[in-house]
Amino acid sequence: MQAIGVWGDLQVLLEFLLFAILTYAAYNMYYYVPVGNHGNFRDDGHILCWIAASLIGGWPVLLFSVLILLVLYSWELFNHGLPYKPKNLLLFITQAVTIYEVSHFLTEVVFSLENPLGIFPAMFLTVCITQMVTVAMSSWLFRVSLRVGSWKRQLLKFNLIDSLYLSLFFICSAYIDTLQANWQYTLLMNGTIMCALIGLYYWRTVGILQTQTVQKKILEVETLNDQITKANQQVLLAFASALEKRDPYTAGHSERVANYAVQIGRELGLSEKDLDIIRLGGLLHDIGKIGIPDSVLIKPGKLTNEEYDVMKQHPVIGEELLRGATLDDLNAEERELMLEIVLSHHERPDGRGYPHGLTEAEIPLFARLTAVADAFDAMTSNRAYRSAMPLEKAAGILVEGCGTQFWPPAVEAFLRTLEREAVFAEVAASQEEST
Ligand SMILES: [Fe+2]
Repeated sequence: MQAIGVWGDLQVLLEFLLFAILTYAAYNMYYYVPVGNHGNFRDDGHILCWIAASLIGGWPVLLFSVLILLVLYSWELFNHGLPYKPKNLLLFITQAVTIYEVSHFLTEVVFSLENPLGIFPAMFLTVCITQMVTVAMSSWLFRVSLRVGSWKRQLLKFNLIDSLYLSLFFICSAYIDTLQANWQYTLLMNGTIMCALIGLYYWRTVGILQTQTVQKKILEVETLNDQITKANQQVLLAFASALEKRDPYTAGHSERVANYAVQIGRELGLSEKDLDIIRLGGLLHDIGKIGIPDSVLIKPGKLTNEEYDVMKQHPVIGEELLRGATLDDLNAEERELMLEIVLSHHERPDGRGYPHGLTEAEIPLFARLTAVADAFDAMTSNRAYRSAMPLEKAAGILVEGCGTQFWPPAVEAFLRTLEREAVFAEVAASQEEST
């Protein structure tokens, strides 16, 4: 008796162990089923385990499988860095209990059909009815699910493949009844579940291949989009560069302004991302000059008041132009910072700048840096109406303009960088180039 008891315990233990392995295997399998014209339904293989739980051992195995699935569920969340949401756990358990209960209810129906029809016709009929009903339900639920919220949509997860499980369940239930729950039954149950797993594996492969194809397409579209964005930015930069060619005296101005402004930003300890924004802002800061007529833009000599008013429109034109353009690598917030450079690079702390006459702290930080870089390059480059100023004189004008025309910390930072020999050499070289 003792030996039989131990053997019985061992059998139960093995059965539970086998179920745990099956659960693990099934949980990691997922598949896609096309539902309706526009959607695929994705599901994980764990539903199989609920069916198996109700088949093999009733409530004890069901509770055991709940435990395993909770462990796996938590592990998957942890593994993918997903947040734990009680709502999802609730849906998970609701789905399981629903399937378990529905399975039991339908078994009763099958057994009631068995007497007049015989077991095999009853099984066959039930499988057919289940399949047809589930297909019809899937289609209907898909349409309904498009109109309801996400958690309700999750609750409607009762699809085509579930019907296969239910069919399997009916077949197995019928066998249990016939075979009186002996070792053959255990073998048959596990064999059937293995077959279902092979089927799931097939669906999983199909699903993964479909997903890969879709992801490849998405990647292609994203790459194309990226290329368009890059091309757009290249066009803008080419525009800015071509613009300078209208006036040979300003050739390379934007490039140098961008470099100086980045130097100031770096000296002030700004981040690399900020420096990228400043560089792009520097390259594009005068792009609005595209809207300024040649008679004003490249006029040799001083501008009249009217002409100067026209010239003062270039920051606004530039900002409007760039607001409608696609720019690479900048999110909405960074883009605003870049646009601020374009719009406010002629503002002055004393409020005498343009276009809006902002004062001190009202002027965006990056624009304050760019203003110093812009003025310095304008002074140290040859212009139609005057020759390049010596570096020391230009530096002196920056110091004089501290607090009125320029933001003092930017000037101080710039002077520190100017003191470094490399910067002096670069400026001297650029002066030589433009003469
Ligand atoms: Fe400007």
